[in-house]
Amino acid sequence: MAKDHPTSSNFHHLCYFLFAFSILSSISFVYWSRCLAPCNTESTIALSKQSQSFDLLAYPSAWNHLSFSPNPPPRLLKIALFVKRWPHRNLAGGLERHALTLHLALARRGHEIHVFTTSSNSAFPDYPDAKIRFHPTPPSPAGYLNQALAWEQFRIQNTTEKPFDVIHTESVGLFHGRARNLSHLAVSWHGIAYETIHSDIVQDLLRGPQEPRHPVLTERVAKVIDEVKFFRDYAHHVATSDHVGDVLKRIYMIPEERVHIIVNGVDEDIYKPDAASGQEFRRKVGVPDHATLVIGLAGRLVKDKGHPLIFEALKQVFMENESFQRNIYVLVAGDGPWGNRYKELGPNLLVLGPLEQKQLARFYNSLDIFINPTLRAQGLDHTFIEAMLSGVSVMGTRFASITGSLIVGPEIGYTFLPTVDSLKKCLYRILVDGKGVLAKKGEVARNRAMQLFTAAKMAAAYERLFLCISEGAKVKDNIDYCKYPLPWDRRR
Ligand SMILES: *[C@@H]1O[C@H](CO)[C@@H](O)[C@H](O)[C@H]1NC(C)=O
Ligand SMILES: *[C@@H]1O[C@H](CO)[C@@H](O)[C@H](O)[C@H]1NC(C)=O
Ligand SMILES: *[C@@H]1O[C@H](CO)[C@@H](O)[C@H](O)[C@H]1NC(C)=O
Repeated sequence: MAKDHPTSSNFHHLCYFLFAFSILSSISFVYWSRCLAPCNTESTIALSKQSQSFDLLAYPSAWNHLSFSPNPPPRLLKIALFVKRWPHRNLAGGLERHALTLHLALARRGHEIHVFTTSSNSAFPDYPDAKIRFHPTPPSPAGYLNQALAWEQFRIQNTTEKPFDVIHTESVGLFHGRARNLSHLAVSWHGIAYETIHSDIVQDLLRGPQEPRHPVLTERVAKVIDEVKFFRDYAHHVATSDHVGDVLKRIYMIPEERVHIIVNGVDEDIYKPDAASGQEFRRKVGVPDHATLVIGLAGRLVKDKGHPLIFEALKQVFMENESFQRNIYVLVAGDGPWGNRYKELGPNLLVLGPLEQKQLARFYNSLDIFINPTLRAQGLDHTFIEAMLSGVSVMGTRFASITGSLIVGPEIGYTFLPTVDSLKKCLYRILVDGKGVLAKKGEVARNRAMQLFTAAKMAAAYERLFLCISEGAKVKDNIDYCKYPLPWDRRR
């Protein structure tokens, strides 16, 4: 192996240099960069200065760790967004909610957003304080965004009015055939096939003895290979978790300077601590005052979100332990086939049905801990971030995106293996830890989420990426948006 490396050539010699810098007073990063220039350790050590600026596109960690200016930039962009569906109700999945949260925030910062999406029966929402224009087209027979029609709309808009500065596609909203060779384009991935292999394994292990093995299991690796081949057609990639960033660079072999990690953010004005409204919510839904702990579950109540697993774990714990049965209440928000099953577990299980955003915010505030037992390692579940921003400790499945970006340690919450036993251990653990410990973890979770996972942080990071890759911004403003920090990138 070693002799295959072109060690004699100075130019191709891969050298690694290390410099540490500190941006926030509390956090210091270790920054590894691969360089093609001759190695000079002495001068790189001298570079480890606080004011050292670096190339953002090569930044290896989540951009959420950087502090961008809270003010809008000198240049406002015209942005094309390709997304299969625009959310009309609160039931929308993660990808659509990401599109809404991000582009609403960008539009409110003054950017002009054009959304190329599928038409639907209900009218598009009106956002009086944001420049968002919709260009709906009928979906393709398979239910995707009709590529030819959407592209024609884009082309008309691009030629008859101001040309677009940048194109953003949520997943394969814009197919790779059209994305190819567009350098001012970024794609955000919400679930890639490689990550899903972990879910496939877990779900097969949990399969009942009579259930046949799901055929997708054998097709998945071929799907990964497919993705490895077509992903490279997209110029810039946004990974929505640290783990997916690593997979895109290492397994999908996309050059590092084209892979950028920006972890999802959620609206910090909606999800925030409010003890009084939480207390009121508890009373309203019928949690008695003597309850020692309130556990929350939310989302689509379906099998692959892990509901059979937590159902079984709760059932066993309630049977085994009297204290659990007397003192612990479980609130279940959302709908789906498992909603009715939960009622079998007795009076401690309160099934609330789907909640709209404001109610959901109160729901989080009523909890001591939020549990998401998902078996789908696909993208990043927003519910964890919503709970964290609300100041609630979280418990989740030990998937790499969750442990690598969100529940990074016991100070934030709990992680379990997707087995009934492991989940039961965690449930007993929170009973032992109690309210006080959970409240402390909730506070740490809140601080981390406020620093990293707000909608404002996500929008500022995407904005900088879009400025950096947009047509001519550098030349027109004489500012290199790809450098960090810029003079205004300071904390207030
Ligand atoms: C949009 O219009 C500009 C200006 O005419 C042109 O340079 C650019 O290639 C067009 N973009 C696409 C993707 O067609
Ligand atoms: C698109 O990019 C590919 C690979 O970089 C290149 O071979 C091809 O010629 C390009 N096509 C056009 C139309 O520019
Ligand atoms: C219930 O579980 C808790 C926590 O593990 C334990 O302290 C307690 O003794 C158990 N109670 C019963 C009745 O098993």
